[in-house]
Amino acid sequence: MTRHIPVLLEETIDELHLTKGNMVVDVTLGGGGHTREILKRHGRVIALDADEDALARFQTHAQSDPVLKRALTDRSLVLVRANYSTLDEVLEHAGVELCDAIVADLGFSSDQIEEGERGFSFLHSGPLDMRFDRTTELTAEKIVNTFSAAELSRIFREYGDESEAKRIALAIEISRREKSIMTTEELREIITQAYPKGKRRGMKIHPATKVFQALRIAVNHEFEHLESFLSQALKHLKPSGRLAIITFHSGEDGLVKRFFKNQARGCICPPKFPVCICGRKPAIKIVTKKPIMPNATEIKNNPRSRSARLRVVEKL
Ligand SMILES: C[S@@+](CC[C@H](N)C(=O)[O-])C[C@H]1O[C@@H](n2cnc3c(N)ncnc32)[C@H](O)[C@@H]1O
Repeated sequence: MTRHIPVLLEETIDELHLTKGNMVVDVTLGGGGHTREILKRHGRVIALDADEDALARFQTHAQSDPVLKRALTDRSLVLVRANYSTLDEVLEHAGVELCDAIVADLGFSSDQIEEGERGFSFLHSGPLDMRFDRTTELTAEKIVNTFSAAELSRIFREYGDESEAKRIALAIEISRREKSIMTTEELREIITQAYPKGKRRGMKIHPATKVFQALRIAVNHEFEHLESFLSQALKHLKPSGRLAIITFHSGEDGLVKRFFKNQARGCICPPKFPVCICGRKPAIKIVTKKPIMPNATEIKNNPRSRSARLRVVEKL
């Protein structure tokens, strides 16, 4: 069973412009919501996830879902445990050079948040882990207990837009002198106490929200992997193939937007040049001039979708 409700499902799959037999790569399988919809529309899917537990959960769930069970049996669905930053290798290994569409639905799934032992949520007690791939070394506990206050402050500001970054980083540094910070509750408490009381009162979100998000991004090197994935993804699309990315916060969305804008640019010669000498041609067409966002009904049914933004491009 998966608790994850796929976000912008219809919008994403419609924008992929799939036809029967198309080959699609879903680089963030999670609960398999997007993968399932593609399979229903007669696509073939290679689905990746960095999290072994996500793949295992999906395989168990697939046994009671006829669409997924059949796809796994006839190999129209192939599962791979891999980071999407290794897309080149994954596709080479699968013997696929070009595909018709690629979809990425970034961040974590509801299944991962709900499991306290993964340490993603300040609402559940657990160790400060936050790794998607539990074979990697860096954990949130290591960052919180060993990074300098200056480095912590940078992480909270850059990855979480946290206005109290410095104050929280200092509170962490003072607290860990007494005793290492090991659990989500301990960290939540330190952040809450560090927040100015007046500011805390008027907040719509919990004071720990942004710091937890920032730590997750740092632990999983999310921005670096996303950048690396984006440039690999374009290489593997057929002409007219589409790439759809769903992001959940402004830093990620900004990165995707800038990358797309840059790839959609043609000539970069200075305007005073009478003729183009750079020879640069646009690699993609931007399909969504403005990102697609969930409507009020989706946000009501799935509040987690409220910050989602979908951007789609087409390979030229
Ligand atoms: C938002 S969920 C995907 C949900 C899915 N689209 C659905 O509808 O059920 C994101 C998934 O991406 C995985 N993930 C995050 N970063 C990854 C990375 N760099 N490489 C591969 N998978 C990653 C997470 O483990 C998580 O399962």
